[in-house]
Amino acid sequence: MSALLEIRHLSIGYRTDGGLLRAVDDVSLTVPAGQTVGLVGESGSGKSTLALAVTRLLPSPPAEMLGGAILFEGRDLLNATTQELQAIRGGQIGYVFQEPATSLNPVYTVGTQLLEAIHLHTPHRGAAATEYAVDLLTRVGMPDPAQRLRAYPHELSGGMKQRVMLAMAIAAQPKLLIADEPTTALDVTIQVQILQLLQRLQDELSLSLLFISHDWHLVESLADSVGVMQTGRLVEFGPRDVVLRQPTHPYTRHLLQSVPAVPWLEGP
Ligand SMILES: Nc1ncnc2c1ncn2[C@@H]1O[C@H](COP(=O)(O)OP(=O)(O)OP(=O)(O)O)[C@@H](O)[C@H]1O
Ligand SMILES: [Mg+2]
Repeated sequence: MSALLEIRHLSIGYRTDGGLLRAVDDVSLTVPAGQTVGLVGESGSGKSTLALAVTRLLPSPPAEMLGGAILFEGRDLLNATTQELQAIRGGQIGYVFQEPATSLNPVYTVGTQLLEAIHLHTPHRGAAATEYAVDLLTRVGMPDPAQRLRAYPHELSGGMKQRVMLAMAIAAQPKLLIADEPTTALDVTIQVQILQLLQRLQDELSLSLLFISHDWHLVESLADSVGVMQTGRLVEFGPRDVVLRQPTHPYTRHLLQSVPAVPWLEGP
């Protein structure tokens, strides 16, 4: 099983008035091709910092790379040129963020934004690009996909916005999708739909997924391996069932004890 993404001893700090905050502290983890790695941990434990670092989306300052390596298909992204990074972002690595409302630009239609992603990262042009945009919206389960191209973000529900974000993220047929709490802003029924959609897309496109969540139930239903972060450190990382049933770190046990039962994720 080859690693698509391998993070080695990565440390990232934020320069603040109070000094340097180690938001990610000596973290090593791998995302094998075609697999899902779930990352859990309390608010502020460094999950988003780690995710954003993968394609160097962290603003610097205040962020500082303090050491380590981020290997994508064996290439260290910390040494990549701006041009290489631009090709990788949205090309080979897609992102979906927590809050679709802030990721979509309110002044442009869905079609304009989707076509921009298509133009940037695929060879489709003109009518073929529009056709591909409709195809992508269909694939993510958008109702009336052709008409939705003319819609503005404020005319869409939260779940629909997240579907548009997913359509943009998969436009270039990336190998890795990083989903940073992609369902947190959505209500429970829509959360389940988006998760099912993620699973289906993963199967169809043989995507690897780095899935970040506060929610153990979501991670349990999606992930092959699970990492647990606490104040910048990855305190546990292993196969899902081992981490869930026989956690070695006291912090993981503490987190698992506070997990409420959620009946809606049980069943088929
Ligand atoms: N731009 C920034 N400047 C300074 N500190 C920051 C910045 N962004 C994040 N931090 C700090 O870095 C730490 C890790 O933050 P991060 O957003 O990575 O956590 P997280 O695990 O994603 O949290 P959440 O679950 O709430 O999304 C926190 O202590 C946070 O306050
Ligand atoms: Mg976060």
